Amino acid sequence: MPDRPSVLILGGLNWGAARGLAALLVPLDGEPKVSYLRIVDKYSVHPPTTYIGSEFPKVLEKDQVEYRQANLTVPTAVEQTFDPPEGVPPYSLVFDFTGDINFSRPEQIQINQTATVAYLCGKEAARRGVKAYVRLIHPFYDCPEKGAHDEKETPKPLGVAGTWWHETMRILGAMKDLNLVIIRSAFTYGPYISVSLMSNVLTVASVYGYLKKPMKSLWSPGKHPMNTVHTDDVAGASYALALWMAGLGRAEADRVAGETIPFHNDPAKVAEVEGMPPADAKIVAPLFNLSDDNETTLLKAGNTMCRLFGATFDFYNFVTSAMFRFRLEDVVEEINEAHVGAWAEMLQKSRVPCANTTLTAYMDVYSLQKHTIAFANGKLKSIVGYNLKRPQMTQEILREIVDKWKEEGSWPVLDE
Ligand SMILES: *[C@@H]1O[C@H](CO)[C@@H](O)[C@H](O)[C@H]1NC(C)=O
Ligand SMILES: *[C@@H]1O[C@H](CO)[C@@H](O)[C@H](O)[C@H]1NC(C)=O
Repeated sequence: MPDRPSVLILGGLNWGAARGLAALLVPLDGEPKVSYLRIVDKYSVHPPTTYIGSEFPKVLEKDQVEYRQANLTVPTAVEQTFDPPEGVPPYSLVFDFTGDINFSRPEQIQINQTATVAYLCGKEAARRGVKAYVRLIHPFYDCPEKGAHDEKETPKPLGVAGTWWHETMRILGAMKDLNLVIIRSAFTYGPYISVSLMSNVLTVASVYGYLKKPMKSLWSPGKHPMNTVHTDDVAGASYALALWMAGLGRAEADRVAGETIPFHNDPAKVAEVEGMPPADAKIVAPLFNLSDDNETTLLKAGNTMCRLFGATFDFYNFVTSAMFRFRLEDVVEEINEAHVGAWAEMLQKSRVPCANTTLTAYMDVYSLQKHTIAFANGKLKSIVGYNLKRPQMTQEILREIVDKWKEEGSWPVLDE
């Protein structure tokens, strides 16, 4: 592989992985790590049809960087995506951040947008012999509350989204010619990331600070792990794993880091979905958890975020919380009423206009449900030697994120 490879990033524009990785590979100041970078997603960036933050447009201005809008559900579009421009060598590192992250999508959309897109991209990458293909999986799982779970354990995929995100690991894993490495990520958060459970909770915490009221959770404190990872580490670990894989190749990577990816789907789907391996096929692929050292729990995240805004984090009493929890779908509007109105008021009162912010204090049913993620992160450290850049989710790091939003007019600046 050349010192400075050509790199392809697929998807991940909306939830930020593509933007974070682009900034790592082609820094605003400093030497680029790549000779050419193409980023491909379904959105337009001129003008943006999804939130992309104020830093990414500057990365796009760099000579080595190209953004291309394409529909990766279409096989010919995928093929063209892998054709480099004239004079550019074939892509050797490919980062697959594709897939639909909206938890409530119907099954056929998850199949088309998550499973099929991964299948088409993986197949093309294998055909072209790319040196590394890094695939990221979102935390659509329910981990047992006790302990941290390593890569030998497969928690239960969560709902339709979880089923198809999990299935992509088997679809890609079955491609023995693909130099695949899989990242199983905790809850991501970071600057310029608005589509994330953690950003949502952070926004709501600020509302309670503004209202000078405690923010109350529906879920009793318990253990309730909600492990996190900063987008600097999504970028850092993705890049480190790509270099690791490029030096090894799939067979050797399977030998040192391969895990069996169990079947968690309806066997009847095998005949319907192209690329889906049989239920009894044994699929082995290199798999790494990605989470920080913060061992974030609901209580820890709640306390850190609330204190940043001078609020306290609290829990509803058992009777009230049980009443809400058993009929979440019915009470979601009622729960949101207070904080959505107050957030609108904060935006209106802001000294800096922020009419176009995409941050929202609205918590949908998924955000209000209980989610437990506890991923042990030792394997990435011991096998790849990766050092976390943001090991703890501290108040300072969260403040840095909020300050960046304030600067670009995404977050209200209030007199106080
Ligand atoms: C992408 O292509 C699929 C299949 O042709 C089509 O159904 C879908 O509408 C296209 N999406 C967009 C955003 O054009
Ligand atoms: C899924 O893809 C198939 C095949 O391209 C298409 O016929 C179908 O309409 C798509 N369904 C949805 C919900 O996008």
